[in-house]
Amino acid sequence: MRIRRPTEPRPSEITPPSVYAERRNVLKALGLGLSAGWGATTGALTLGANALTTPARTALVTIPSPLSTRETPSSYTDITTYNNFYEFGLDKSDPAANAHTLKPRPWKVTIDGACDKPGTFDLDELIKPHALEDRIYRFRCVEAWSMVIPWVGFPLGALLKRFAPDSRAKFVEFTTLQDPLQMPGQRRAVLHWPYREGLRMDEAMHPLAILAVGLYGAALPNQNGAPLRLVVPWKYGFKNIKSIVRIRFTERAPATAWNTAAPEEYGFFANVNPAVDHPRWSQAQERRIGGGNSLFTARLDTQLFNGYGAQVAPLYRSLDLRKWF
Ligand code: MTE
Repeated sequence: MRIRRPTEPRPSEITPPSVYAERRNVLKALGLGLSAGWGATTGALTLGANALTTPARTALVTIPSPLSTRETPSSYTDITTYNNFYEFGLDKSDPAANAHTLKPRPWKVTIDGACDKPGTFDLDELIKPHALEDRIYRFRCVEAWSMVIPWVGFPLGALLKRFAPDSRAKFVEFTTLQDPLQMPGQRRAVLHWPYREGLRMDEAMHPLAILAVGLYGAALPNQNGAPLRLVVPWKYGFKNIKSIVRIRFTERAPATAWNTAAPEEYGFFANVNPAVDHPRWSQAQERRIGGGNSLFTARLDTQLFNGYGAQVAPLYRSLDLRKWF
């Protein structure tokens, strides 16, 4: 029998109904129905009882995911103004101020490496076969702050399967756009550009790993990684690579941006783990961003695998998590 951990929500409890009731009303009023895809209108989209409002943006047509957390989402303002995106500067406020130079359409993505059906695709064509889901995920940064983010995305594994990875495909490498005109921060050698990340194949195929194209029911703002970014909720934030232009199946673990820059501080796996400290600070607790006043932000005990252990711990059964951090 499967025993539910106290932190694991019941499927019926997962999505705050108010969040979606309001959305359904908005979509009904707009005549968009509930099939997944890109909406055709603009306007403020208010998401339920929390009165969290996105600025006027094109609404995405989505379905709720049973994999969402029940926790209250962080505000749209916090999610879109407190960012890490070194291609646009090193301060948390820099991406919101500077990412307007990024042009998220038209956008091409190459999928290649150890697979039978490689190719380069227009992003909208690439997304089309996938139903867009609302997935509210906890997000834990390695700098010991966290948020709860209502993503719009679809399972990474479903996309990967379409390109028929072959028996050599043991890992997946992701690469961000390299274009210093659109990403002026790439003129400074703070990281080895372009930003790269990677997952083991079984991690990439896990249903919790998604590619996000939106948040709060609308397209991703540039600072959050438009038009396509990875979201792997049981890992530290730096695994969540933004503005992806290439996905490559590889035989060996790919070199990744932070692991290359500081291997003793940032491991390839980067699973959230309160028992394994960063060499320069503890990872046992986190500060939940929100409420507008940092003095009163909640301090929480960080959970192994960011609270997703019931789902992902089996992936690491044979791994020493202290050695493979
Ligand atoms: N992707 C790229 N291309 N460049 C970056 O600097 N920063 C990473 C990750 N993805 C980063 C990136 C880090 S350190 C974090 S914590 C998350 O993006 C932050 O995502 P957010 O700004 O949407 O919260």
